[in-house]
Amino acid sequence: MKVLVTGGAGYIGSHACVALLEAGHDIVVLDNFANSCMTSLDRVKQITGEDFPVVEGDVNHHRVLDSLFNSHDIDAVMHFAGYKAVGESCEKPLLYYRNNVAGTLSLCEAMQKHQVALLIFSSSATVYGDPPTVPIKEDFPLTATNPYGRSKLMVEEILRDLVSAEQLTGSGAWQIALMRYFNPVGAHPSGLIGEDPNGIPNNLLPYISQVAIGRLPALSVFGSDYPTIDGTGIRDYLHVMDLAEGHVRALDYLAQGKSTSGCHTWNLGTGKGYSVLEMIRAFESASGKTVSFKMAPRRAGDIAACWADTSKAENELGWTASRGLSEMMEDSWRWQLGNPQGYRS
Ligand code: NAD
Ligand code: UD1
Repeated sequence: MKVLVTGGAGYIGSHACVALLEAGHDIVVLDNFANSCMTSLDRVKQITGEDFPVVEGDVNHHRVLDSLFNSHDIDAVMHFAGYKAVGESCEKPLLYYRNNVAGTLSLCEAMQKHQVALLIFSSSATVYGDPPTVPIKEDFPLTATNPYGRSKLMVEEILRDLVSAEQLTGSGAWQIALMRYFNPVGAHPSGLIGEDPNGIPNNLLPYISQVAIGRLPALSVFGSDYPTIDGTGIRDYLHVMDLAEGHVRALDYLAQGKSTSGCHTWNLGTGKGYSVLEMIRAFESASGKTVSFKMAPRRAGDIAACWADTSKAENELGWTASRGLSEMMEDSWRWQLGNPQGYRS
């Protein structure tokens, strides 16, 4: 299949490009490089030995999308393009709704016009808010506590409406996947592509790894009084290559159901949770470095514990995360060591 990958130069998109090419698919990347650069795509070409077209442009621009769908025979879309910083979304909600919600609307309009009906959307475990229990199943109640989370929830609802409308009129065959990621970490084992956050990282793993390499003095552990094994927050961390391969499985699944409309939701996680202190220890043992840290107050909006029930993805897609914590840490560290300043190294 020929797959349009929006946001393909970013952290998850670039790993998905590798997984798609390795599975024998063709790709076209659309990215405006708002949070990435061409180097990641050059590295994808280096890893896979494959060439592919890259269109520099914005998913909000109808003319860019029209010309792209006219010049490439696209069968399916993986939609990673969007903004993802929770704090920034509280300061600039319009920017987030414009890019994440309106961008997806423009994309769907263009897909409908050009009769491309297979869409895989990057949602997030953030749509579960503070879950009543763990592990979290796909049918748990949905809620959002910040504009970023609400933008994901709104897009999920729009996509569900799109599929229901088609079921009502019987006019088409949208096949849509809502992929709810837990906490993606790690990097491709080559060390050539990985996460390259702008400025000081918000997320735990990039922060730990920048402390280990000496770019940052110490990690603040946000909260030591949660009702968890050691008082620190628990999350379901999964290797970004497992996540990428989950998308390829979802693509195969959607392609099989081409003639009937459907909207499918899958959790992508490992089903296991680790605390912040366990993550620090695992990183230290993979890197041989000491990670300095200090206890700090809870971060506003954080929850105590969150991990996935992954049985739906396992049963329907035949997908489970195969890489363990030490592999996540070793691959993160290899990327950090080889690229101490990210792609600017
Ligand atoms: P990223 O910022 O590394 O990648 C996003 C890419 O989209 C970047 O290359 C950026 O330049 C591009 N982009 C942004 N707006 C665009 C636009 N209007 N037109 C074209 N390109 C645009 O982020 P990521 O971590 O790879 O996340 C990918 C997707 O997964 C996002 O939608 C994010 O919300 C979602 N997600 C990420 C995580 C995570 O922990 N990284 C967790 C859950 C969901
Ligand atoms: C965050 C986002 C969430 C997003 C997810 C993946 C918030 C409130 N939530 O979730 O919307 O989907 O990233 O991108 O930002 N921690 C520290 N010190 C740090 C950083 C993190 O102790 O410097 C702790 C956190 O308190 C948490 C764990 O590490 O317990 C993981 O944090 P993080 O990587 O930011 O992910 P989430 O909070 O799960």
